Amino acid sequence: GKGNYRHFMEKELHEHPIAIGDTLQQYIDAGTRVVGRPPLPFDPATLPRLTLSACGSAFLVAQVARYWMEALARLPTDCDVASELRYRDPPLTPGGAAMLISQSGETADNLAALAMLRAGGQSTVSLVNVPESSMARQSDAALLTVAGPEISVASTKAFTAQLSVMACLAINFARARGTIDEAEEARLTAALLEVPEHAARLMERGGEIESVAAEVAGARDVLYLARGSLFPIAMEGALKLKELSYIHAEGYAAGEMKHGPIALIDPSVPVIALCPSGPLFEKTASNLQEAAARGGRIIAFTDAAGAPALRRFAERVVELPTVDPFVAPILHAIPVQMLAYHVAVLKGTDVDQPRNLAKAVTVE
Ligand code: M6R
Repeated sequence: GKGNYRHFMEKELHEHPIAIGDTLQQYIDAGTRVVGRPPLPFDPATLPRLTLSACGSAFLVAQVARYWMEALARLPTDCDVASELRYRDPPLTPGGAAMLISQSGETADNLAALAMLRAGGQSTVSLVNVPESSMARQSDAALLTVAGPEISVASTKAFTAQLSVMACLAINFARARGTIDEAEEARLTAALLEVPEHAARLMERGGEIESVAAEVAGARDVLYLARGSLFPIAMEGALKLKELSYIHAEGYAAGEMKHGPIALIDPSVPVIALCPSGPLFEKTASNLQEAAARGGRIIAFTDAAGAPALRRFAERVVELPTVDPFVAPILHAIPVQMLAYHVAVLKGTDVDQPRNLAKAVTVE
């Protein structure tokens, strides 16, 4: 049941810390604090290419994972929505591997992509939240998120659990490929292990997020902007808002603003920015400043180091815990999901069962 929560989604949002923690525990040795290697049908040290396939929010996890696999493990990584990949007939790299990411393990398009990838000679690994699912059974190996059942149609804790597994794999593959040293590996792993605690602190910020939601609930359109590995989280924020509150929203790479979307900017379009301090901070902040100069109302999610610069032009600044940029996508996913939840509650939509949607899309 939902216990004391109003909706399954609210309950499942509160389960982020435990889902992330339980999942990390499966992949990181508690004693040595070293990321282990789950049984895989390929050797990451020599893998020539990884293809990631998923739908919806899981596809956004795949996109974050691509940033990690490329930058940390120097592993060429493709990623695509399953409904496109299955029909695209891409030239698959001999000896390559594919990962199918899916909460349910039953998504029809992703099952079809799995069959196509297998037929194309790829080793296949599924990452699912349901161990006995079709995807788990039909792939060469199955990895699990330990998120517990997810009832709400909107994916929440499964999303951060998927990110947690992909982060572990990126660290492990980087080690196998010799692309990070021991100190860097220890630093990244420590940053990951701190995420459940930070996530737990975020759970206490419901009131603050609710007041941001009040500023967004009346909008017809909302833009979400970010760069780098946070760009897919901007798209996750937009997807969740559309799905739950029926407000039109788009996630954009901040650097793409001046190639079109900046034409939309006026005071009626809230601009939600994910902009923590880090290597891309200055560039993102200057994109946001351009939007503010055109009347855009900037609502920025950042950290203590990023807040002062953003306060100069942003209408709202939400300060999140300071974390290593590597884990920022996991942490930022939580408030954008909470925001979509609170907007939906304010609008009175059916939070757990949005119109026209199914929890698992088992037909094409
Ligand atoms: O079960 P799956 O992870 O394969 O589902 C994929 C999408 O249908 C799912 O993530 C969908 O986008 C969610 N409703 C998003 O909140």
